[in-house]
Amino acid sequence: MTERRTAGSSGLAAERNKGMETLRLKREVGLISAMSLIAGTMIGSGIFMSPEWVLYHMGSPAGSLIIWAACGLLVMFAALSYAELGTIIKESGGEYIYILRNFGSFPAFLFAYTSVIMVRPASVAGVSLSFAEYAVAPFYPGCSPPQVLVKCTAATCILLLTVINCLNVKLATSVMNVFTAAKLLALLVIAVGGIVLLINGQTQSFQNAFQNTTAGIGPVGVAFYQGLWSYDGWNNLNYVTEELKKPEVTLPRAVMIAIPLVTCLYLLVNVSYFAAMTPAELLSSGAVAVSWGNKVLGSWAWLISLAVAISTFGSANGTFFSGGRMCYIAAREGHMPDILSMAHVRCFTPSPALIFTSAMSLLMIIPGNFSSIVNFFSFVAWIFYGTTIAGLLYLKIKKPELPRAYKVPIFMPIIILIASVYLVLAPIIDQPQMEFFYVILFILSGVIVYFPLVHFKCHPRFLPGVTLHLQLLLEVAPAAKNVN
Ligand code: ARG
Repeated sequence: MTERRTAGSSGLAAERNKGMETLRLKREVGLISAMSLIAGTMIGSGIFMSPEWVLYHMGSPAGSLIIWAACGLLVMFAALSYAELGTIIKESGGEYIYILRNFGSFPAFLFAYTSVIMVRPASVAGVSLSFAEYAVAPFYPGCSPPQVLVKCTAATCILLLTVINCLNVKLATSVMNVFTAAKLLALLVIAVGGIVLLINGQTQSFQNAFQNTTAGIGPVGVAFYQGLWSYDGWNNLNYVTEELKKPEVTLPRAVMIAIPLVTCLYLLVNVSYFAAMTPAELLSSGAVAVSWGNKVLGSWAWLISLAVAISTFGSANGTFFSGGRMCYIAAREGHMPDILSMAHVRCFTPSPALIFTSAMSLLMIIPGNFSSIVNFFSFVAWIFYGTTIAGLLYLKIKKPELPRAYKVPIFMPIIILIASVYLVLAPIIDQPQMEFFYVILFILSGVIVYFPLVHFKCHPRFLPGVTLHLQLLLEVAPAAKNVN
Protein backbone atom coordinates (compact mmCIF):
# COMPACT_ATOMS: atom_id res chain seq x y z
CA MET A 1 0.00 0.00 0.00
CA THR A 2 2.78 2.39 0.92
CA GLU A 3 4.53 1.69 -2.38
CA ARG A 4 1.37 2.26 -4.29
CA ARG A 5 0.81 5.53 -2.47
CA THR A 6 4.27 6.73 -3.36
CA ALA A 7 3.82 5.57 -6.92
CA GLY A 8 0.56 7.45 -7.06
CA SER A 9 2.04 10.62 -5.80
CA SER A 10 5.18 10.34 -7.91
CA GLY A 11 3.37 11.55 -11.01
CA LEU A 12 2.61 14.88 -9.57
CA ALA A 13 3.50 15.78 -6.11
CA ALA A 14 6.55 13.71 -5.31
CA GLU A 15 8.53 15.48 -8.03
CA ARG A 16 7.40 18.75 -6.68
CA ASN A 17 8.19 17.65 -3.17
CA LYS A 18 11.61 16.22 -3.93
CA GLY A 19 14.12 18.11 -1.88
CA MET A 20 11.31 20.18 -0.43
CA GLU A 21 9.53 19.61 2.84
CA THR A 22 6.87 16.88 2.84
CA LEU A 23 3.32 17.83 1.96
CA ARG A 24 1.32 18.57 5.09
CA LEU A 25 -1.45 20.90 6.17
CA LYS A 26 0.06 24.06 7.62
CA ARG A 27 -0.35 25.51 11.11
CA GLU A 28 -2.41 28.51 10.11
CA VAL A 29 -5.10 28.77 12.78
CA GLY A 30 -4.25 31.35 15.46
CA LEU A 31 -6.20 32.31 18.61
CA ILE A 32 -8.71 34.58 16.89
CA SER A 33 -9.51 32.04 14.19
CA ALA A 34 -9.62 29.32 16.82
CA MET A 35 -12.16 31.25 18.86
CA SER A 36 -14.25 31.99 15.84
CA LEU A 37 -14.06 28.38 14.76
CA ILE A 38 -15.70 27.51 18.06
CA ALA A 39 -18.12 30.42 18.49
CA GLY A 40 -18.80 30.67 14.78
CA THR A 41 -19.92 27.06 14.56
CA MET A 42 -21.84 27.08 17.83
CA ILE A 43 -23.90 30.10 16.87
CA GLY A 44 -25.90 28.86 13.92
CA SER A 45 -29.59 28.23 13.60
CA GLY A 46 -30.35 27.02 17.13
CA ILE A 47 -30.48 30.23 19.12
CA PHE A 48 -32.95 31.64 16.58
CA MET A 49 -35.26 28.60 16.54
CA SER A 50 -34.80 26.32 19.59
CA PRO A 51 -35.87 28.63 22.48
CA GLU A 52 -39.45 27.91 21.60
CA TRP A 53 -38.87 24.15 21.86
CA VAL A 54 -36.95 24.39 25.11
CA LEU A 55 -39.85 26.39 26.56
CA TYR A 56 -42.35 23.90 25.15
CA HIS A 57 -40.68 21.00 26.91
CA MET A 58 -39.84 22.83 30.16
CA GLY A 59 -43.17 24.63 30.56
CA SER A 60 -41.88 27.88 32.10
CA PRO A 61 -39.49 30.77 31.39
CA ALA A 62 -37.35 30.04 34.47
CA GLY A 63 -37.23 26.34 33.55
CA SER A 64 -35.96 27.15 30.07
CA LEU A 65 -33.38 29.66 31.26
CA ILE A 66 -32.06 27.00 33.65
CA ILE A 67 -31.73 24.57 30.72
CA TRP A 68 -29.86 27.16 28.63
CA ALA A 69 -27.48 27.87 31.52
CA ALA A 70 -27.01 24.18 32.29
CA CYS A 71 -26.24 23.45 28.62
CA GLY A 72 -23.59 26.17 28.68
CA LEU A 73 -22.01 24.74 31.81
CA LEU A 74 -22.13 21.24 30.43
CA VAL A 75 -20.39 22.11 27.16
CA MET A 76 -17.82 24.17 29.07
CA PHE A 77 -16.91 21.12 31.18
CA ALA A 78 -16.91 18.93 28.09
CA ALA A 79 -14.77 21.33 26.06
CA LEU A 80 -12.22 21.71 28.89
CA SER A 81 -12.00 17.93 29.09
CA TYR A 82 -11.42 17.84 25.34
CA ALA A 83 -8.74 20.51 25.75
CA GLU A 84 -6.82 18.16 28.04
CA LEU A 85 -7.27 15.34 25.52
CA GLY A 86 -6.01 17.64 22.78
CA THR A 87 -2.82 18.37 24.67
CA ILE A 88 -2.15 14.66 25.35
CA ILE A 89 -3.06 13.33 21.89
CA LYS A 90 -1.79 15.98 19.54
CA GLU A 91 -3.28 14.68 16.33
CA SER A 92 -6.29 16.24 14.60
CA GLY A 93 -9.53 14.31 14.29
CA GLY A 94 -11.52 15.05 17.46
CA GLU A 95 -13.48 12.18 18.97
CA TYR A 96 -12.27 9.87 16.23
CA ILE A 97 -8.59 10.06 17.08
CA TYR A 98 -9.25 9.95 20.86
CA ILE A 99 -11.45 6.86 20.57
CA LEU A 100 -8.87 5.28 18.25
CA ARG A 101 -5.94 5.88 20.59
CA ASN A 102 -7.84 4.90 23.76
CA PHE A 103 -10.17 2.12 22.67
CA GLY A 104 -8.74 0.84 19.40
CA SER A 105 -9.64 0.50 15.79
CA PHE A 106 -13.16 -0.96 15.82
CA PRO A 107 -15.01 1.59 17.98
CA ALA A 108 -13.12 4.37 16.19
CA PHE A 109 -14.26 3.00 12.87
CA LEU A 110 -17.89 2.92 14.04
CA PHE A 111 -17.57 6.56 15.00
CA ALA A 112 -15.92 7.56 11.71
CA TYR A 113 -18.45 5.59 9.68
CA THR A 114 -21.42 7.15 11.50
CA SER A 115 -19.95 10.65 11.43
CA VAL A 116 -18.67 10.72 7.88
CA ILE A 117 -21.75 9.13 6.35
CA MET A 118 -24.50 10.44 8.59
CA VAL A 119 -23.83 12.92 11.39
CA ARG A 120 -21.58 15.50 9.76
CA PRO A 121 -23.35 15.63 6.41
CA ALA A 122 -26.66 15.80 8.29
CA SER A 123 -25.53 18.76 10.33
CA VAL A 124 -24.11 20.55 7.28
CA ALA A 125 -27.42 19.85 5.50
CA GLY A 126 -29.50 20.92 8.51
CA VAL A 127 -27.70 24.21 8.96
CA SER A 128 -27.70 24.90 5.20
CA LEU A 129 -31.43 24.22 5.02
CA SER A 130 -32.08 26.76 7.75
CA PHE A 131 -29.78 29.18 5.90
CA ALA A 132 -31.87 28.67 2.77
CA GLU A 133 -35.20 29.14 4.61
CA TYR A 134 -34.10 32.53 5.89
CA ALA A 135 -32.27 33.62 2.75
CA VAL A 136 -35.33 33.19 0.53
CA ALA A 137 -37.99 34.20 3.10
CA PRO A 138 -37.80 37.98 2.39
CA PHE A 139 -38.80 37.28 -1.24
CA TYR A 140 -42.01 35.55 -0.17
CA PRO A 141 -43.65 37.88 2.33
CA GLY A 142 -46.72 36.36 3.93
CA CYS A 143 -46.35 32.87 2.44
CA SER A 144 -43.87 30.05 2.70
CA PRO A 145 -41.33 29.73 -0.12
CA PRO A 146 -41.43 26.69 -2.46
CA GLN A 147 -39.48 23.73 -1.07
CA VAL A 148 -37.57 23.22 -4.34
CA LEU A 149 -36.20 26.73 -4.12
CA VAL A 150 -35.20 26.22 -0.47
CA LYS A 151 -33.39 22.99 -1.29
CA CYS A 152 -31.64 24.48 -4.35
CA THR A 153 -30.47 27.43 -2.25
CA ALA A 154 -29.17 25.05 0.44
CA ALA A 155 -27.32 23.08 -2.26
CA THR A 156 -25.79 26.28 -3.63
CA CYS A 157 -24.64 27.16 -0.12
CA ILE A 158 -22.92 23.78 0.24
CA LEU A 159 -21.23 24.08 -3.17
CA LEU A 160 -20.00 27.56 -2.32
CA LEU A 161 -18.60 26.29 0.98
CA THR A 162 -16.85 23.47 -0.86
CA VAL A 163 -15.12 25.88 -3.21
CA ILE A 164 -14.08 28.20 -0.37
CA ASN A 165 -12.73 25.36 1.76
CA CYS A 166 -10.90 23.62 -1.08
CA LEU A 167 -9.20 26.77 -2.30
CA ASN A 168 -7.35 27.76 0.79
CA VAL A 169 -7.42 27.39 4.55
CA LYS A 170 -6.88 31.12 5.14
CA LEU A 171 -9.88 31.96 2.99
CA ALA A 172 -12.06 29.54 4.96
CA THR A 173 -10.91 30.91 8.31
CA SER A 174 -11.33 34.51 7.13
CA VAL A 175 -14.90 33.75 6.10
CA MET A 176 -15.34 32.27 9.56
CA ASN A 177 -13.93 35.34 11.30
CA VAL A 178 -16.05 37.84 9.36
CA PHE A 179 -19.26 35.87 9.78
CA THR A 180 -18.61 35.27 13.46
CA ALA A 181 -18.11 38.98 14.09
CA ALA A 182 -21.37 39.71 12.24
CA LYS A 183 -23.39 37.21 14.23
CA LEU A 184 -21.93 38.27 17.57
CA LEU A 185 -23.11 41.74 16.68
CA ALA A 186 -26.58 40.45 15.79
CA LEU A 187 -26.90 38.60 19.11
CA LEU A 188 -25.69 41.68 20.92
CA VAL A 189 -28.43 43.76 19.24
CA ILE A 190 -31.07 41.27 20.44
CA ALA A 191 -29.53 41.21 23.94
CA VAL A 192 -29.39 45.00 24.24
CA GLY A 193 -32.94 45.25 22.88
CA GLY A 194 -34.03 42.94 25.71
CA ILE A 195 -32.29 44.99 28.36
CA VAL A 196 -34.02 48.12 27.07
CA LEU A 197 -37.39 46.33 27.18
CA LEU A 198 -36.74 45.17 30.75
CA ILE A 199 -35.77 48.67 31.84
CA ASN A 200 -39.03 49.89 30.31
CA GLY A 201 -40.87 47.50 32.61
CA GLN A 202 -41.66 44.61 30.22
CA THR A 203 -41.25 41.94 32.86
CA GLN A 204 -44.58 40.05 32.67
CA SER A 205 -42.92 36.77 31.59
CA PHE A 206 -40.80 36.79 34.70
CA GLN A 207 -43.67 37.08 37.17
CA ASN A 208 -44.46 33.55 38.35
CA ALA A 209 -41.49 32.47 36.26
CA PHE A 210 -41.49 28.94 37.66
CA GLN A 211 -45.18 28.21 37.11
CA ASN A 212 -45.83 25.01 35.10
CA THR A 213 -42.19 23.86 35.15
CA THR A 214 -41.87 20.18 34.20
CA ALA A 215 -39.65 17.86 36.18
CA GLY A 216 -40.17 14.74 34.02
CA ILE A 217 -36.94 13.00 33.06
CA GLY A 218 -37.95 12.64 29.41
CA PRO A 219 -39.09 16.21 28.66
CA VAL A 220 -36.04 17.63 30.43
CA GLY A 221 -33.85 15.33 28.29
CA VAL A 222 -35.50 16.49 25.07
CA ALA A 223 -35.25 20.13 26.18
CA PHE A 224 -31.53 19.51 26.66
CA TYR A 225 -31.32 18.08 23.14
CA GLN A 226 -32.75 21.27 21.68
CA GLY A 227 -30.51 23.49 23.81
CA LEU A 228 -27.43 21.39 23.14
CA TRP A 229 -27.98 21.60 19.39
CA SER A 230 -27.56 25.36 19.73
CA TYR A 231 -24.31 24.84 21.62
CA ASP A 232 -22.98 22.12 19.35
CA GLY A 233 -19.73 22.95 17.68
CA TRP A 234 -17.94 23.42 21.05
CA ASN A 235 -15.68 20.48 20.10
CA ASN A 236 -14.70 21.83 16.70
CA LEU A 237 -11.17 22.89 17.51
CA ASN A 238 -10.11 19.37 18.42
CA TYR A 239 -10.66 18.38 14.79
CA VAL A 240 -7.88 20.67 13.64
CA THR A 241 -5.25 20.41 16.43
CA GLU A 242 -2.53 19.84 13.81
CA GLU A 243 -3.41 23.10 12.09
CA LEU A 244 -3.31 25.22 15.27
CA LYS A 245 -0.46 27.55 16.04
CA LYS A 246 0.83 26.58 19.52
CA PRO A 247 -2.03 24.11 20.16
CA GLU A 248 -1.18 23.55 23.83
CA VAL A 249 -1.91 27.21 24.57
CA THR A 250 -4.45 28.02 21.87
CA LEU A 251 -6.75 25.07 22.52
CA PRO A 252 -7.59 25.69 26.21
CA ARG A 253 -7.50 29.45 25.82
CA ALA A 254 -9.90 29.56 22.87
CA VAL A 255 -12.32 27.27 24.73
CA MET A 256 -12.16 29.40 27.87
CA ILE A 257 -12.97 32.57 25.96
CA ALA A 258 -15.42 31.40 23.31
CA ILE A 259 -17.75 29.19 25.33
CA PRO A 260 -18.52 31.57 28.23
CA LEU A 261 -19.02 34.31 25.64
CA VAL A 262 -21.57 32.25 23.72
CA THR A 263 -23.29 31.11 26.93
CA CYS A 264 -23.74 34.68 28.21
CA LEU A 265 -25.08 35.83 24.85
CA TYR A 266 -27.50 32.91 24.61
CA LEU A 267 -28.85 33.65 28.09
CA LEU A 268 -29.27 37.35 27.36
CA VAL A 269 -30.94 36.60 24.04
CA ASN A 270 -33.40 34.27 25.75
CA VAL A 271 -34.16 36.88 28.37
CA SER A 272 -34.74 39.31 25.53
CA TYR A 273 -37.22 36.94 23.82
CA PHE A 274 -39.12 36.64 27.11
CA ALA A 275 -39.08 40.40 27.58
CA ALA A 276 -40.61 40.95 24.15
CA MET A 277 -43.12 38.08 24.20
CA THR A 278 -45.23 36.23 26.73
CA PRO A 279 -44.57 32.48 26.96
CA ALA A 280 -47.80 31.83 25.01
CA GLU A 281 -46.75 34.19 22.20
CA LEU A 282 -43.33 32.61 22.11
CA LEU A 283 -44.77 29.13 21.83
CA SER A 284 -46.94 30.04 18.86
CA SER A 285 -44.33 32.11 17.05
CA GLY A 286 -42.86 29.56 14.60
CA ALA A 287 -39.53 31.34 14.37
CA VAL A 288 -38.80 33.14 17.62
CA ALA A 289 -36.18 35.52 16.37
CA VAL A 290 -38.37 36.74 13.52
CA SER A 291 -41.32 37.35 15.87
CA TRP A 292 -38.92 39.22 18.15
CA GLY A 293 -37.81 41.34 15.18
CA ASN A 294 -41.39 42.11 14.16
CA LYS A 295 -42.24 43.23 17.68
CA VAL A 296 -39.14 45.18 18.55
CA LEU A 297 -37.50 46.37 15.34
CA GLY A 298 -40.63 47.27 13.36
CA SER A 299 -39.66 48.15 9.81
CA TRP A 300 -36.10 46.94 10.47
CA ALA A 301 -37.31 43.40 11.16
CA TRP A 302 -35.71 42.16 7.91
CA LEU A 303 -32.37 42.60 9.69
CA ILE A 304 -33.16 39.48 11.70
CA SER A 305 -33.62 37.30 8.62
CA LEU A 306 -30.32 38.63 7.34
CA ALA A 307 -28.66 37.88 10.69
CA VAL A 308 -29.97 34.32 10.71
CA ALA A 309 -28.79 33.78 7.13
CA ILE A 310 -25.31 35.09 8.02
CA SER A 311 -25.21 33.08 11.21
CA THR A 312 -26.20 29.80 9.60
CA PHE A 313 -23.85 30.26 6.64
CA GLY A 314 -20.92 30.81 9.01
CA SER A 315 -21.92 27.83 11.14
CA ALA A 316 -22.25 25.58 8.08
CA ASN A 317 -18.74 26.73 7.10
CA GLY A 318 -17.34 25.69 10.49
CA THR A 319 -19.14 22.35 10.42
CA PHE A 320 -17.88 21.72 6.92
CA PHE A 321 -14.32 22.74 7.79
CA SER A 322 -14.07 20.31 10.69
CA GLY A 323 -16.22 17.62 9.06
CA GLY A 324 -13.81 17.49 6.13
CA ARG A 325 -10.88 17.10 8.55
CA MET A 326 -12.54 14.22 10.35
CA CYS A 327 -13.01 12.30 7.10
CA TYR A 328 -9.42 13.09 6.08
CA ILE A 329 -7.97 11.82 9.35
CA ALA A 330 -10.06 8.63 9.32
CA ALA A 331 -8.80 7.93 5.80
CA ARG A 332 -5.23 8.58 6.92
CA GLU A 333 -5.66 5.86 9.55
CA GLY A 334 -6.92 3.42 6.91
CA HIS A 335 -10.60 3.63 7.87
CA MET A 336 -11.74 5.31 4.66
CA PRO A 337 -10.54 5.00 1.05
CA ASP A 338 -6.96 6.26 0.52
CA ILE A 339 -7.91 9.08 -1.78
CA LEU A 340 -9.74 10.83 1.08
CA SER A 341 -6.49 11.10 3.05
CA MET A 342 -4.76 13.25 0.45
CA ALA A 343 -4.20 16.98 0.29
CA HIS A 344 -4.07 19.34 -2.66
CA VAL A 345 -0.45 19.87 -3.66
CA ARG A 346 -0.69 23.63 -4.00
CA CYS A 347 -3.67 24.66 -1.89
CA PHE A 348 -2.70 22.47 1.10
CA THR A 349 -6.34 21.62 1.76
CA PRO A 350 -7.80 18.13 2.20
CA SER A 351 -9.88 18.63 -0.93
CA PRO A 352 -10.98 15.01 -1.63
CA ALA A 353 -12.38 14.68 1.90
CA LEU A 354 -14.10 18.05 1.56
CA ILE A 355 -15.61 17.10 -1.79
CA PHE A 356 -16.83 13.81 -0.35
CA THR A 357 -18.40 15.54 2.68
CA SER A 358 -20.04 17.97 0.32
CA ALA A 359 -21.48 15.16 -1.85
CA MET A 360 -22.91 13.39 1.21
CA SER A 361 -24.41 16.64 2.50
CA LEU A 362 -26.05 17.29 -0.88
CA LEU A 363 -27.63 13.84 -0.71
CA MET A 364 -28.98 14.60 2.77
CA ILE A 365 -30.69 17.74 1.53
CA ILE A 366 -33.04 15.78 -0.70
CA PRO A 367 -35.09 14.02 2.00
CA GLY A 368 -33.82 16.19 4.87
CA ASN A 369 -35.95 18.16 7.23
CA PHE A 370 -34.45 20.37 9.85
CA SER A 371 -36.27 19.26 13.01
CA SER A 372 -35.76 15.52 12.49
CA ILE A 373 -32.07 16.19 11.93
CA VAL A 374 -31.77 18.09 15.23
CA ASN A 375 -33.47 15.48 17.39
CA PHE A 376 -31.41 12.54 16.26
CA PHE A 377 -28.21 14.48 15.91
CA SER A 378 -27.90 15.04 19.67
CA PHE A 379 -28.72 11.42 20.44
CA VAL A 380 -25.90 10.06 18.27
CA ALA A 381 -23.51 12.84 19.16
CA TRP A 382 -23.79 12.23 22.91
CA ILE A 383 -23.16 8.50 22.56
CA PHE A 384 -19.76 9.39 21.13
CA TYR A 385 -19.03 12.39 23.36
CA GLY A 386 -19.60 10.08 26.35
CA THR A 387 -17.27 7.45 24.91
CA THR A 388 -14.56 10.05 24.29
CA ILE A 389 -14.84 11.40 27.83
CA ALA A 390 -14.62 7.85 29.21
CA GLY A 391 -11.29 7.68 27.35
CA LEU A 392 -10.08 10.82 29.12
CA LEU A 393 -11.03 9.39 32.52
CA TYR A 394 -9.11 6.25 31.60
CA LEU A 395 -6.02 8.33 30.75
CA LYS A 396 -6.35 10.40 33.91
CA ILE A 397 -6.59 7.36 36.16
CA LYS A 398 -4.32 4.88 34.41
CA LYS A 399 -1.75 7.12 32.74
CA PRO A 400 -1.33 10.20 34.93
CA GLU A 401 2.35 10.35 33.95
CA LEU A 402 1.63 11.31 30.31
CA PRO A 403 2.73 14.89 29.67
CA ARG A 404 -0.17 17.31 29.24
CA ALA A 405 -0.03 21.09 29.00
CA TYR A 406 -3.48 21.47 30.50
CA LYS A 407 -5.23 19.45 33.22
CA VAL A 408 -8.97 19.57 33.74
CA PRO A 409 -10.30 18.97 37.30
CA ILE A 410 -11.52 15.37 37.32
CA PHE A 411 -15.05 16.20 38.50
CA MET A 412 -15.75 17.82 35.13
CA PRO A 413 -15.32 14.72 32.93
CA ILE A 414 -17.18 12.68 35.57
CA ILE A 415 -20.18 15.02 35.37
CA ILE A 416 -20.07 14.89 31.57
CA LEU A 417 -19.99 11.12 31.57
CA ILE A 418 -23.04 10.93 33.84
CA ALA A 419 -24.79 13.60 31.76
CA SER A 420 -24.16 11.76 28.52
CA VAL A 421 -25.55 8.51 29.89
CA TYR A 422 -28.63 10.46 30.97
CA LEU A 423 -28.93 12.28 27.65
CA VAL A 424 -28.76 9.09 25.65
CA LEU A 425 -31.11 7.08 27.87
CA ALA A 426 -33.74 9.62 29.02
CA PRO A 427 -35.52 10.20 25.70
CA ILE A 428 -35.49 6.45 24.88
CA ILE A 429 -36.91 5.47 28.27
CA ASP A 430 -39.46 8.25 28.25
CA GLN A 431 -40.75 7.77 24.72
CA PRO A 432 -39.23 4.82 22.91
CA GLN A 433 -39.30 5.69 19.20
CA MET A 434 -38.39 3.49 16.28
CA GLU A 435 -36.04 6.16 14.96
CA PHE A 436 -33.63 5.71 17.89
CA PHE A 437 -33.55 2.01 17.10
CA TYR A 438 -32.82 2.72 13.42
CA VAL A 439 -29.97 5.01 14.40
CA ILE A 440 -28.43 2.28 16.58
CA LEU A 441 -28.92 -0.24 13.76
CA PHE A 442 -27.12 2.13 11.42
CA ILE A 443 -24.16 2.46 13.81
CA LEU A 444 -23.99 -1.32 14.16
CA SER A 445 -24.22 -1.83 10.40
CA GLY A 446 -20.64 -0.52 10.44
CA VAL A 447 -19.63 -4.06 11.52
CA ILE A 448 -20.52 -5.39 8.06
CA VAL A 449 -18.24 -2.84 6.46
CA TYR A 450 -15.43 -3.01 9.02
CA PHE A 451 -14.47 -6.66 8.92
CA PRO A 452 -14.13 -7.24 5.17
CA LEU A 453 -12.87 -3.81 4.13
CA VAL A 454 -10.80 -2.60 7.09
CA HIS A 455 -9.84 -5.61 9.17
CA PHE A 456 -9.22 -8.14 6.40
CA LYS A 457 -8.41 -5.47 3.80
CA CYS A 458 -10.32 -7.15 0.95
CA HIS A 459 -10.26 -4.21 -1.43
CA PRO A 460 -11.72 -4.38 -4.92
CA ARG A 461 -8.98 -4.84 -7.56
CA PHE A 462 -9.85 -1.68 -9.43
CA LEU A 463 -9.40 0.56 -6.38
CA PRO A 464 -5.69 1.48 -6.82
CA GLY A 465 -6.30 2.43 -10.45
CA VAL A 466 -9.27 4.59 -9.54
CA THR A 467 -7.28 6.22 -6.73
CA LEU A 468 -4.44 7.03 -9.12
CA HIS A 469 -6.76 8.61 -11.68
CA LEU A 470 -8.53 10.63 -9.04
CA GLN A 471 -5.16 11.76 -7.70
CA LEU A 472 -4.15 13.09 -11.09
CA LEU A 473 -7.51 14.68 -11.67
CA LEU A 474 -7.68 16.40 -8.28
CA GLU A 475 -3.93 17.11 -8.05
CA VAL A 476 -3.64 15.60 -4.61
CA ALA A 477 -0.96 13.58 -2.83
CA PRO A 478 -0.62 11.76 0.50
CA ALA A 479 0.05 14.22 3.29
CA ALA A 480 2.16 13.73 6.39
CA LYS A 481 1.03 14.18 9.99
CA ASN A 482 1.73 17.47 11.62
CA VAL A 483 2.61 16.54 15.18
CA ASN A 484 5.65 17.66 17.05
N1 ARG B 1 -24.92 24.93 17.00
C1 ARG B 1 -25.24 25.02 15.62
C2 ARG B 1 -26.59 25.62 15.43
O1 ARG B 1 -27.18 26.08 16.37
C3 ARG B 1 -25.17 23.69 14.93
C4 ARG B 1 -23.78 23.23 14.71
C5 ARG B 1 -23.73 21.95 13.98
N2 ARG B 1 -22.37 21.68 13.67
C6 ARG B 1 -21.55 20.92 14.39
N3 ARG B 1 -20.32 20.87 14.09
N4 ARG B 1 -21.99 20.24 15.36
O2 ARG B 1 -27.08 25.67 14.32
